[in-house]
Amino acid sequence: MPTQHNMSHLPFGDHKNAPWYGKDILSVKQFGRENLEYIFAVSHEMHDMVDHIGTFDLLKGKILANLFYEPSTRTSSSFTAAMERLGGSVIPINDVKYSSVAKGENLADTVRTLECYADVIVIRHPEVGSAAIAAKAARKPVINAGDGIGEHPTQALLDAFTIREELGHLDGLTITLLGDLKHGRTVHSLARLLSLYKVKLNYVAPDILRMPAELIEELKAKKIEQTEYSGLETCLPQTDVLYVTRVQKERFTDEAVYESVKGAFVIDPKVLKAAKERMIVMHPLPRVGEITMEVDDDPRAAYFRQMEYGLYVRMALLAMVLGKA
Ligand code: NCD
Repeated sequence: MPTQHNMSHLPFGDHKNAPWYGKDILSVKQFGRENLEYIFAVSHEMHDMVDHIGTFDLLKGKILANLFYEPSTRTSSSFTAAMERLGGSVIPINDVKYSSVAKGENLADTVRTLECYADVIVIRHPEVGSAAIAAKAARKPVINAGDGIGEHPTQALLDAFTIREELGHLDGLTITLLGDLKHGRTVHSLARLLSLYKVKLNYVAPDILRMPAELIEELKAKKIEQTEYSGLETCLPQTDVLYVTRVQKERFTDEAVYESVKGAFVIDPKVLKAAKERMIVMHPLPRVGEITMEVDDDPRAAYFRQMEYGLYVRMALLAMVLGKA
């Protein structure tokens, strides 16, 4: 399709010497502020390109293996869309029941198989450290799309990009993380990533779902101001970003314990009356009652925009590890 869009100024093309070429993305610990600035810039360009020309052939002929051992809607389909918008294609393994995993194949062998057919592997797995095991077995780049309660680095990158696009900057913000801070891999990755900026972090969780002490210590060593609260009342009026999370049912061994905390916090229009006029409400989604649907029409509700930003960030990351950005 003919286009008016001028691609010549963009940082796209062959960059085999680029720092991210062939690299795995396993943890947000791999990223510094400069990397983030770069990822934000490329993601922004990807957004522009999708708006102007929809699909373009930056990764033509490249193949992504999308290996999901846990349920996913957004992460899996946005990686697929990202690859296809860049002209590449995808081997989807969303239901390991029907793959050799069901016959007892180990993760390393599965990954070694997939890399014979694909140029990059995206993996989600219930065990902490599984993406690192996959990366060790593979020569091709592996991207961690969630390893149990460990990390979810691409989500944290898209969360940071969302804050940047919505509020213009990250330094100086007060960010309140709410919900299941114990099991939520998205909050673990996001808190670590935000520690690159001058932010204040508030943690609001039921007592048994508090932020892991080791993570609090890790961020304390980086001089991040962190405060724990048992409710939103005191901290909501100062909050610039309210990051709501789902209580992670699949991580509980006792259903009764899950039932006792699942409805601990519900954000509805009444709660948001106490919030700033210029602030955003985020959620990695899926939500299961933590944010009522009446909030969706509030301009501060950023969670649907957030999942769209995920497409652009994942396009940027794929282009980077495949040596095209
Ligand atoms: C999150 C996840 O899988 O960790 N979802 C996502 O990737 N967007 C959050 C969740 O499942 O609650």
